[in-house]
Parts: sequence; C-alpha cells; structure tokens
Amino acid sequence: MTTTPSVNSPTKRESPVAGIDRLTASSGHTAIVGLQWGDEGKGKIVDLLAPHFDLVVRYNGGANAGHSVQVGKERYALHLIPSGILSREKINVLGNGVVIDPNKLLEEIDGLRKRGVHVAGDNLRISDRAHVVLPYHKSQDALMEAAVSHGRSDSNKIGTTGRGIGPCYADKALRSTAVRMGDLLDPRKLEERLAHIVPIKNVTLAALAQSCDQSFEPFDPRKLAEEFAEYGKKLKEHVTDASHLLHESMAHHKRLLFEGANATLLDIDHGTYPYVTSSNCSSLGVHTGTGVPGHKVTSILGVVKAYQTRVGGGPMPTELHDEVGNRIRERGHEYGTTTGRPRRCGHLDLMALKYAARLSGATGICLMLLDVLAGFETLKVCTGYRHNGQTLDHYPGDADVLAAVEPIYQEVPGFGDEITACKNFADLPAKARAYIELIEQHAGVSVKVISVGPARDQTIVR
Ligand code: IMP
Repeated sequence: MTTTPSVNSPTKRESPVAGIDRLTASSGHTAIVGLQWGDEGKGKIVDLLAPHFDLVVRYNGGANAGHSVQVGKERYALHLIPSGILSREKINVLGNGVVIDPNKLLEEIDGLRKRGVHVAGDNLRISDRAHVVLPYHKSQDALMEAAVSHGRSDSNKIGTTGRGIGPCYADKALRSTAVRMGDLLDPRKLEERLAHIVPIKNVTLAALAQSCDQSFEPFDPRKLAEEFAEYGKKLKEHVTDASHLLHESMAHHKRLLFEGANATLLDIDHGTYPYVTSSNCSSLGVHTGTGVPGHKVTSILGVVKAYQTRVGGGPMPTELHDEVGNRIRERGHEYGTTTGRPRRCGHLDLMALKYAARLSGATGICLMLLDVLAGFETLKVCTGYRHNGQTLDHYPGDADVLAAVEPIYQEVPGFGDEITACKNFADLPAKARAYIELIEQHAGVSVKVISVGPARDQTIVR
C-alpha cells in the first residue's frame, strides 16, 4: 500500500532559515513569548524553530489565541494546537495551564487532517489537568461584558474574544465548579460533576442575564454530559499526564520549545489589568502552566512587532486614529485571526517593550512585520511617558494612569524601499538598521531575528 506523505512530513520540513538554530542555547530549553498585546507573529517563530526541538509545548490560554503560519502558499490559522504540528515528528503538548474547548479543538484537528497534516495520539498530547471550557463559560463571558456596560455611556468592557476563557479560569480557581480534561474520560464521573455544577450555573447566569435585560436559556446537565463524554472518547488517545511526559523527555535529553499564547502585556498579574486575559501569558507562566521549573528554560525569545497593536478594550498610549494607523492596519493585515476584529494600530511603544522584555526575561528579540513600515517618510517611536507633568521612570501598574499618560516621541527617518526580498542584515536600508538599533538600545536586548514577510524564507537571522 502506498501512503501519501502528509504536509508535515520530515522531507518537506527541513532547511527553513540558515542560522536559526544558533538562536537558542544548545543546552536548556527555550520559550517564545509575545512582548506586546498579542498577535506579534509568535507562530512563525515557533514554526521556524520547531525542527530543532523535540517537543513544542503550549502553557497558557485557549482558543482566544490565533497563530497564523504560512507554509509555501498555504496559510494555517491555529488556535489551540501548537504551531509545531506543522513539523512532523515533533510532539506537541497542551500543558495544564491551557484551557480547552474540546469542540473547537476537534474542529481544528479535523481541519488540519483534511489539509494533509498528520495529527494523532503520537504527536498531540493533552494534559489531563488542563481545564475544560464548557458552553456556559461562553454565555457567562458574553453576559459579563453586557452586565458591566449595561446602562453606562462609557464602555468599560474588557472586549474579550467571547471564548469563555475568563469564566473557565475563574472556575479553576473556584475548584468546586471546575471540569478537567481527565474528567471527560470517565462518563459517570462527568455526569455526576455536571449534575452538581450546571444548576449552579443556571441560577447565576439567569440572574446575570436579568441584570442586563438579556435572555438566557438554561443548560441541560445530561445533554452536556453526553456531548462532552463523546468529546472525551474522541480525544482519549491524546490525554496524558503531560508534566510527567515533559520531565521524562528532559531526563532523556529531549529539547523543549514553549509556545506562549496571547502576550506579556495581557498577563493576568503583570499586564495592563484589568484589560488583560486570564492566564500568565508572560514567560512566567511557563512553569506553572507545564510543571517545568524556572532554571530549565535558558533562552527566552521575545516576539515584537515593528509597531504596536491591540485588540479589545484598555489603554494604548500610542494608538493612532489617523491615516498612518489605517495604513499600518491595511499593510499589516491587522485583523484578528480569532475574531476578525480590526486591530487598533499605533507607533512602537519602547517604554512598554522595555518593561515586557525585563518581565519576561527576554534573551533575544524577534522583530516581526518590519516590511509593513517600508515607505513611511518618517517613523515615530515612544521612548517614555509623561504623567501629571512628570516623566515616569517605570511602566505604570494602574490602567487609569496608563490611559492618562502622554507619550514622549522620538521621530526618526523612515526607510523608503520595500524590504521583503532582503536576506541579510546588511541588505536592509541603513535607516531600517538604525530603527532596529534604536529598539535594542531601549529594550536592552539584541534583535536576533528580523521578519520581512510572512514566508519562512523572509526571515533574517543576525
Ligand atoms: P479573553 O482572553 O477572551 O478573555 O480577552 C481578554 C482580552 O485579551 C481582550 O482584550 C482580548 O482582545 C485580548 N486577547 C486575548 N487573546 C488575545 C490574542 O491572542 N491576541 C490579542 N489579544 C488577545
């Protein structure tokens, strides 16, 4: 019998970019983390590095994330599955810190298989401790957003992705109303748990709906138990003790690549709270989200766009509401992979970058989408903030302060020509090189990778 090679077969997947393997220390493990508000292009970096690692591990977030990866002419939009799935023979792991919507995950698996990508129990492993997103979490997400803005002229919505992420993490912290992936494998236990949880949800959600004049259809615990036991059956081959798997892999000298979802400024503890997501999406989350201790991760690559974007609510000091912002949005295709929402665009914020790079312990920066800035006569970068007449000496922890700061800008010459064909740092226009050096100066971290287009070979390694 002949078999058709899958898209992620080893022969199709070597030699992406020369020198990329030099980016990470030869010993120890590596984390890839966003240093802004998400959508920095982490998927592309993970995809390029994956051939040099054995396991690719997600540690946080859920289907709120969207990583797009371009392979040849094909574009893949991944939400839950690590981008390492496109490199055959890599083991992809969803750690205990991830929250999983099984229906969305199965859709994603199906979609990949239909396009010839091998996804099975041997290359996709899911922690039995990862928490499950249920339909009532999504209702709660939508109702909370409606309730907090009900009857108010100013919107203080978080602008969530509506994927039930916050309510699922809230149940994880509450414990008595949580469901974990391991629970899906035991239909009787699952039915018992949902018989206890669903009536509590129905009462609280009905009250929440009433508070903001919304309708609410109660959930049927038996139906949910049947539906989710079915998902459990389909996902059983993937579910495992992932922390044990990772420790065993490390003991056998396998190399781990941690793939962050969302980004440092959306971190629940260290981001622009409350306009954040509900997990530790800085590199600090790697350890709790997988069970791998801190000293094992020796390289942390911070992924940064050449400008700033944000989706959803919350302060963004360098946001542009003019032609420059629109031009960045159109050139950068700045529309959400998960929700399709237009992203808010602005000048690069080096005050925020310095904070995020230090917090996440970045050992190198991957600068993405530099090509989007080609053609601007001048560029502005924010090098600091002024608040109440004072220059701030560090990034503020209070969102109201951040909303009130006045950015201090430095104007620099733009670079005229398109740079999408540049292969080396020296090929870049001098003004583009100066822009990169300015970023390094403020962030205190070297820019090791420069992406000049979506394709794998549109990547410069310094
Ligand atoms: P949630 O994660 O759906 O609760 O959304 C909370 C906030 O984080 C909202 O402003 C979202 O737009 C934002 N967010 C969550 N995930 C991502 C992401 O992957 N990229 C960009 N923004 C995100």
